[in-house]
Amino acid sequence: MTPSDVKATLSFSDGSPEMQLPIYKGSVGPDVIDIRKLYAQTGKFTYDPGFLSTASCASSITYIDGDKGELLYRGYPIEQLAQNCDYMETCYLLLNGELPNVAERAAFTRLVTRHTMVNEQMQFFLRGFRRDAHPMAIMTGLVGALSAFYHDSTDINNPTHREISAIRLIAKMPTLVAMAYKYTTGQPYLYPQNNLSYASNFMRMMFATPCEEYEPNDVLVRAMDRIFILHADHEQNASTSTVRLCGSSGTNPFAAIAAGVACLWGPAHGGANEAALNMLEEVQKMGGVDKIGEFIKQVKDKNSGIKLMGFGHRVYKNYDPRAKLMRETCHEVLDSLGLHDDPLFKLAMTLEKIALEDEYFVSRKLYPNVDFYSGIVQRAIGIPVPLFTAIFALARTVGWIAQLNEMIGDPEYKIGRPRQLFTGATARTVVPIAKRG
Ligand code: SDX
Repeated sequence: MTPSDVKATLSFSDGSPEMQLPIYKGSVGPDVIDIRKLYAQTGKFTYDPGFLSTASCASSITYIDGDKGELLYRGYPIEQLAQNCDYMETCYLLLNGELPNVAERAAFTRLVTRHTMVNEQMQFFLRGFRRDAHPMAIMTGLVGALSAFYHDSTDINNPTHREISAIRLIAKMPTLVAMAYKYTTGQPYLYPQNNLSYASNFMRMMFATPCEEYEPNDVLVRAMDRIFILHADHEQNASTSTVRLCGSSGTNPFAAIAAGVACLWGPAHGGANEAALNMLEEVQKMGGVDKIGEFIKQVKDKNSGIKLMGFGHRVYKNYDPRAKLMRETCHEVLDSLGLHDDPLFKLAMTLEKIALEDEYFVSRKLYPNVDFYSGIVQRAIGIPVPLFTAIFALARTVGWIAQLNEMIGDPEYKIGRPRQLFTGATARTVVPIAKRG
């Protein structure tokens, strides 16, 4: 980061001494005011719940311009990556900073492919769950449990351990998600097949059975791979910040990624794709397109507690570029399956059109985000709704790892330890219980 010629001066109306605060510039995006010495020099904290104006770190991985609706992974626009690359290339890019050449891509893919199996003990771990457990409850457990199997790659400060655990996590997430799904259906697990691509392997483990093979068509495999690419990383979102904060204690990579899985589960974050599809199905039950007006009225009524799931974003105050690409994939998948008249997709497009013209949403800059269409694509592929967020976690694992490794690799990093504005009771004396009123 580059020091700016501009300085910030903090002055106080009570005559307390002024303070000069350095400003730093990144390669693109907002400058930052360096407040690291603020408390030492003024005895005051900054106050920013939800971190709306706070940069938690310097990062060179993913850049978002919310006003332009722009998303870059290591400088490459998401549109170009979605059109020209696959998820393995995207993983290599996020982890290493550059796109792989043919040989590098083949070597990376081979490495991932040869780590897709999980320890056989994992299936006994799964047996502890109820069959109707939510897949994200299972995934939070399974990912954390990986640290019980791979003692040779748990030292986050060892670069070799970081590299091995990164490959293991990327390789095993599809196997674990498919196992979590099969467990809830009572069907037997399928082992990964090394002759299949990353996305095909996942879809086969999901949908094949010992009695019947699964032959995914190329459009569906490409759609699954695109879903992985679009969800791979997204700057310092809630789950990534969770992974960074968790990893900053020096815990092992599996535990830090498990914390990210747990955070992603929330409906305001990765759980929104499941919530968005449930919302569309609810509106469909209410009467579909004819009842959209009534539903929008409920959303506008603050007391209803109803939000337009799949809309709005902390950073995007323009269209989420991933939503555009996901809508494109929707068309391709539904056409390929002969479902172009899918009522839910038509309902989604009508809802989107209305919301984009309605003053309530326009004034609040509420546009569709990646979750609005991803649920429809996954439903068309045959993925059960409760599994949507687990697939988001599968795809985001590489982003979490890249961000965690960037933090650990920064010689300046410290354990994250925010402070607070204390508003509770000041010191007081305990009254023995016999004398309490
Ligand atoms: C993801 O951070 C990331 O990068 C996340 C993510 C990633 O890739 O990691 O992009 C993935 O999590 C996408 C977001 C998925 N979440 C949803 O789709 C859930 C629905 N969206 C909302 O919960 C909300 O939009 C958030 C949480 C996404 C963002 O909330 P903010 O930025 O805190 O905005 P806000 O709550 O301050 O909203 C501003 C106004 C408020 O109204 P007023 O108080 O001004 O009257 O907009 C309203 C909100 O009530 N509002 C909505 C709304 N989102 C915000 N009203 C109706 N429907 C919505 N979806």
